[in-house]
Amino acid sequence: MKLSYVSRWLLLLMVALPALSMTAQPVEWTVNTRKTIADVNPDMYGIFFEDINFGADGGLYAELVKNRSFEFPQSLMGWKSFGRVEVLTQDAPFDRNPHYVRLQSSGHPHKHTGLENEGFCGIGFHQDSLYRFSVWARTQGNEAQRIRVEFIDESNVVMARKSMKIQGENWKKYSMEMKATRMVNKGKLRIFYENRNTQAIDLEHVSLFPKATWNHHENGLRRDLVQALADLKPGVLRFPGGCIVEGTDLATRYQWKHSVGAVENRPLNENRWQYTFAHRLFPDYYQSYGLGFYEYFLLAEEIGATALPVLSCGLACQYQNNDMSAHASLEDLQPFVQDALDLIEFANGAIDTQWGALRAEMGHPAPFNMKYLAIGNEQWGAEYPERLQVFVKAIRAQYPDIQIIGSSGPSADGEKFDYLWPEMKRLQVDLVDEHYYKSPEWFLANAARYDNYDRKGPKVFAGEYAAHDAPSAKANNFKSALAEACFMTGLERNADVVRLATYAPLFAHVEAWQWNPDLIWFDNLRSVKSVNWYVQQLYSQYKGAQVCQTYSSDKQALSGQDGLYASAVIDKEKHQLILKLANANEQPKDWSIALKSLKEYHPQAKLIRLESSNELMGNTLDAPYTVVPKEEMLLIEALPLQLSMPAKSFWVIVLGLTK
Ligand code: AHR
Repeated sequence: MKLSYVSRWLLLLMVALPALSMTAQPVEWTVNTRKTIADVNPDMYGIFFEDINFGADGGLYAELVKNRSFEFPQSLMGWKSFGRVEVLTQDAPFDRNPHYVRLQSSGHPHKHTGLENEGFCGIGFHQDSLYRFSVWARTQGNEAQRIRVEFIDESNVVMARKSMKIQGENWKKYSMEMKATRMVNKGKLRIFYENRNTQAIDLEHVSLFPKATWNHHENGLRRDLVQALADLKPGVLRFPGGCIVEGTDLATRYQWKHSVGAVENRPLNENRWQYTFAHRLFPDYYQSYGLGFYEYFLLAEEIGATALPVLSCGLACQYQNNDMSAHASLEDLQPFVQDALDLIEFANGAIDTQWGALRAEMGHPAPFNMKYLAIGNEQWGAEYPERLQVFVKAIRAQYPDIQIIGSSGPSADGEKFDYLWPEMKRLQVDLVDEHYYKSPEWFLANAARYDNYDRKGPKVFAGEYAAHDAPSAKANNFKSALAEACFMTGLERNADVVRLATYAPLFAHVEAWQWNPDLIWFDNLRSVKSVNWYVQQLYSQYKGAQVCQTYSSDKQALSGQDGLYASAVIDKEKHQLILKLANANEQPKDWSIALKSLKEYHPQAKLIRLESSNELMGNTLDAPYTVVPKEEMLLIEALPLQLSMPAKSFWVIVLGLTK
């Protein structure tokens, strides 16, 4: 230890502060820095994305026009039309999205014809930002004609206006940039037919994107939201669901093949989440598939995560369908299995294969190196393993390196769970997806959940979990975040069994959500990271490479005894030893931490504290930094390390190793 350059007063201050409130006998906790008990999967902490709560269309997917292809069952849902507007399908440019609109003169120069789009809970415009308006169009006859495009603010005032020339009887894509002159949270897009003659203009796939999407992709994603994902340093990205994989019925399940190729010709699918909660009904919730499987793979790659797609196993959502006739029979399963095989080819295949060629044509000749594939979401009953085994056999035969993920049902315990785990072992899947939406108390009581799991069978993917604090209406608050942090010490300690973990759900629009809590909330312009997000980030950023053996005075891992939780990881390449400590008590707690076999270390460690004076507090769009981690220097004068943690706190200590 070299303390010489630290001034004496600073040393006294830093050592004295954490020790100040030490009163009762400290809890003794030992970290054996030499004995490691598991490798941490580099993919361990990740993201689960589902199009719920307007997470995709109206959220991450940056398209600002709702029902851009006029394919909603009510063709003009999301639009207001005025003057002479018709919806037609003859000679449509895109066979899977056949509807388009025809605008014509209303016969009087003062009677306007046009359309207005309401966006998703309005259209958000950032001041001085550029937007790309595009449309497929044709004219009747070859004479040049015009439409006028306007951005409208909340007071119904035009704040940007530009005219677009359209010419030619053949369908063509037109596009232009427009600048928003004001910040508007709930704007609108208006389009006028500007002709003086009577000839018609046909419009299809009317689109408006901010120019500044993530990485400037044209068919792009909202920059602030992707940044919030990238900042999580995710190891894995599970997509596209969740229940939407299964569908309210098989016809509306997520079909990945519908989500690739030209964006204009991806057929619309209704969203399963428009129905589920009658009190949170969003009859205008559809999936444009603009954010499709190609975009998911690209997103994963660009934020440094491994892609983990989930596919239908031939069972429609079992919550919504009791009757076996709703599901694909074993005889009819082949197309579903083929979808899985083709997806692997799409992601990883050479460019001279059918699906690899499509990937290349879409802009990514190099393989995406997909290595995980989940078959089924929250499935149960004998009907699931019966189907899964057909997939397992086919995938193993053709792609033995793909890690297959099976389901343990919708809950962390109970009959369905107890039936499925042995079945998953029998089928020798690589990982089993477990889901738990439980109270904070459950999370606090279950930090040892994995301590005695079978080390020989499939590994665990904690694919959906979140602490639901019912008394606070399931708010994203510090109480739930702390419970998750405590529980996650158990995931970390058992990193040999738990290989992947993803909180759920991910996104929610503040005005259009069905399910809470959620990791990231947003409106049309802003986004906020919940306090739960910060817990995920701390684990992911400080995941270490190997788990150290740890124990308290009872020789057991510290997994809730006396309201305390702890785990330790080491990363020899980064020269870091990382301690995670949580105090779930109403009182401060003193610790005495022995770092066994630790020789050389930097006396100045990093201490990151996540604390709140009120456990019901969380972050909001208006106060986004209410509960966030605070970083400070912790001077380690001597070992064992003596610390006093305040009531209800989660700490991460990062020690630099010199050897
Ligand atoms: O995360 C929300 C939903 O919860 C998922 O779609 C489903 O898998 C689970 O029931």
